[in-house]
Amino acid sequence: KKRYNITLLPGDGIGPEVVSIAKNVLQQAGSLEGVEFSFREMAVGGAALDLVGVPLPEETISAAKDSDAVLLGAIGGYKWDKNEKHLKPETGLLQLRAALKVFANLRPATVLPQVTLLLLFTLTSIYFGVPRGIKTNENGEEVGFNTEVYAAHEIDRIARVAFDTARKRRGKLCSVDKANVLEASILWRRRVTALAAEYPDVELSHMYVDNAAMQLVRDPKQFDTIVTNNIFGDILSDEASMITGSIGMLPSASLSDSGPGLFEPIHGSAPDIAGQDKANPLATILSAAMLLKYGLGEEKAAKRIEDAVLGALNKGFRTGDIYSAGTKLVGCKEMGEEVLKSVDTQVFV
Ligand code: NAD
Ligand code: IPM
Ligand code: MN
Repeated sequence: KKRYNITLLPGDGIGPEVVSIAKNVLQQAGSLEGVEFSFREMAVGGAALDLVGVPLPEETISAAKDSDAVLLGAIGGYKWDKNEKHLKPETGLLQLRAALKVFANLRPATVLPQVTLLLLFTLTSIYFGVPRGIKTNENGEEVGFNTEVYAAHEIDRIARVAFDTARKRRGKLCSVDKANVLEASILWRRRVTALAAEYPDVELSHMYVDNAAMQLVRDPKQFDTIVTNNIFGDILSDEASMITGSIGMLPSASLSDSGPGLFEPIHGSAPDIAGQDKANPLATILSAAMLLKYGLGEEKAAKRIEDAVLGALNKGFRTGDIYSAGTKLVGCKEMGEEVLKSVDTQVFV
């Protein structure tokens, strides 16, 4: 029997609600494929701040590094918003991504059952770039500043992941940048264009980010794989979530060259609905499927989860964020139970 160590990082807000469900689904899908998990739950974000005073404790880093994959809920909340930067939940998440050396973030969005688009973006750049800060300038006025820095190799490595992924999909890659104004984008476009020669079977196009934001709403089907930088990808993936129905539906995978991947829904801790059994657990459940597929290579177990989610949706089960007349309104737990049932009962081919 195969056995994997999974680090669970429930985090804050709706994080614990959705992670506990995804854990059960993971266990169930695995057991049907002869795969076993040992789970270790660790603190991150606001939960870790309350417990030990830092948003990413050393023990959490080592547990995450020692495991085969990491499943995270979400971090953040009003309570910690006024904290100093190094004591913010968000800092814990960025530190975790850095510690795991994950550089490629994959965010698939299903537009129609037949059409999915995949957003891929870097996890480095402006969030980490220096110089950065808030200082007083020569006129005695406060100025805030950040830097976007890309080394050629950083662009090349994400571009390679993107070309390889596009090749396995519909063979179309759109690189999104702001090369009309930003030097970091000019180099980005130059490197991506140069690499295209090695992938003659992939059709490469370029688009400015403002146009991409518009095109995504106007005609999402035109896209297959999109590659972009950290901040554009963060924004476009929230937008992509709405053309698919809800932010509560979109999973993500953050991958490195080696070492465990980090899998998490793209949404945050949703403090407005936390603790009310209203959260849509599907984004986290689908993140567990990505964990199986991209993290562990357990494609069959992953497929079981994806099919189970479709099964629950086909039966009309809907959390509030995706509810419409004629469907069945359920809470987080009931949706989770339905998916779990569906893992067991689906006819699997
Ligand atoms: P959010 O994604 O938490 O919530 C935005 C809106 O979407 C809210 O109305 C929320 O109720 C809804 N929503 C989100 N997930 C949902 C789900 N699974 N089911 C149903 N509805 C859902 O974004 P925000 O409000 O901008 O941020 C809240 C906190 O989360 C902040 O502290 C922020 O920094 C943090 N955050 C964390 C992550 C992460 O952990 N990766 C991502 C984004 C935001
Ligand atoms: C995400 C989030 C994070 C990001 C924040 C919380 C730092 O928005 O994972 O989408 O911008 O990467
Ligand atoms: Mn985001």
